[in-house]
Amino acid sequence: MKVDVVLGLQWGDEGKGKIVDVLANNYPVIARFQGGPNAGHSLQFEDKKFVLHTIPSGVFRKNTQNIIGNGVVIDPIIFMEECLKLEEIGVPVRERIYISKKAHLILPGHKIIDAASEQAKGASKIGSTLKGIGPTYMDKTGRNGIRVGDILTPDFHDRFSVLKKKHISFLKQFDYQYNIEENEAKWFEAIEYLKEFKLIDGEYYINNLLSENKRVLAEGAQGSLLDIDFGSYPFVTSSTTTCAGASTGLGVAPRHIGTVSGIFKAYCTRVGSGPFPTELNDRTGEMLREFGAEFGATTGRPRRTGWLDLVALKYAVMINGVDNLIMMKADVLDTFDKVCIAVAYKINGEITESLPYDTYAQIEPIYKEFKGWKRDLSKVTKEEDLPFEFMNYVRFIEKEIGVPIRIISLGPDRSQTIIRNEE
Ligand code: GDP
Ligand code: IMO
Ligand code: MG
Repeated sequence: MKVDVVLGLQWGDEGKGKIVDVLANNYPVIARFQGGPNAGHSLQFEDKKFVLHTIPSGVFRKNTQNIIGNGVVIDPIIFMEECLKLEEIGVPVRERIYISKKAHLILPGHKIIDAASEQAKGASKIGSTLKGIGPTYMDKTGRNGIRVGDILTPDFHDRFSVLKKKHISFLKQFDYQYNIEENEAKWFEAIEYLKEFKLIDGEYYINNLLSENKRVLAEGAQGSLLDIDFGSYPFVTSSTTTCAGASTGLGVAPRHIGTVSGIFKAYCTRVGSGPFPTELNDRTGEMLREFGAEFGATTGRPRRTGWLDLVALKYAVMINGVDNLIMMKADVLDTFDKVCIAVAYKINGEITESLPYDTYAQIEPIYKEFKGWKRDLSKVTKEEDLPFEFMNYVRFIEKEIGVPIRIISLGPDRSQTIIRNEE
């Protein structure tokens, strides 16, 4: 068996949580491979709504193993809070969650450094979620980090003290008030809680599952345009959000990666700073935010909104080798008289279909207009019942990208999902 991958093709918040929850019905194993509590993955079923940050989105399915891979960074406090909430409603998290010993830990100092460096950047700040993601990956690649497996070693407290000292020293460059000890007792309490979980050699574990012919689905966090290498640098996150991250973040060889499904919204959103060529700072943009309830699942920040950007989408499809597309939230466009898609960019008078290296360049999107469908799609359950104008929109995207849209999501609930025929 191979590991199938589901990941976001835009700037995050495409609806990964919802779709992974839907697909988890067919996968006994769900694995997160990168990111951390900067993610907010929403799920909705039986009139209940949940937001997961560190926990894979298969956790509500009985008999599903949920693996947090080595590529993930874990804040023990956030993880404990998430788990306790789920335990309260009877989800047996300790049975369902497995954590790689090679996943790195977010320390209190990482969050402080995140906040201090954002403050120092002033107007050019990234708009980080302030969860300590960047500084934790910096310590990982700088070979200073602390991993989950370290909590079982006798010198764990010493390792913590060494890294804390480094953080205090690093923070001297900033004019920033902080108390690094404020959350320390809670952090260690959460470490004790973490010890009650199955801490595994994730790479052996997953490869063994594959050799037993178990289907594994890797769940991406963030989106391809926030990737550390291929995103709109420096306005990105600090992990490999693209398909290659599933290999390094789980210990699965590239040839054991199977089907790659790419998720995109029928329009675009972005939270935080950075280029957004099709952004709409007008009433249409406000309508997208209002109808799509576009407010961050982790930070509550209003999301920036705009039309679908095919140039950026094609780029993400190329980088990830996407086999199937999954289109989300077209129902948000239901009342629009016309809907637009950017098919190219005009930069300094030249027309291009490529993302420029210099993402600050003055990009003027070239739009193709589509007649709106003006129908409530949220209650449609069969492909045959989808309106002609909407299918026109769908077929145009498929043809331009050359990849089929296999799933169409028309509402936040599990049930509002149309899985299309193979044809
Ligand atoms: P993720 O980070 O990719 O998991 O996405 P988020 O959960 O951050 O944001 C997606 C938001 O859209 C959540 O509030 C979902 O409940 C909601 N959502 C998901 N799919 C659909 C859909 O097809 N239609 C509508 N209207 N909302 C959706
Ligand atoms: P999910 O998994 C949307 C954005 C932040 C900021 C940049 C860097 O829910 O799709 P970080 O805290 O990672 O250093 O922030 O990345 N960002 C996200 N935007 N969805 C996410 O996750 C995001 N995770 C990070 O807003 O611009
Ligand atoms: Mg999200």
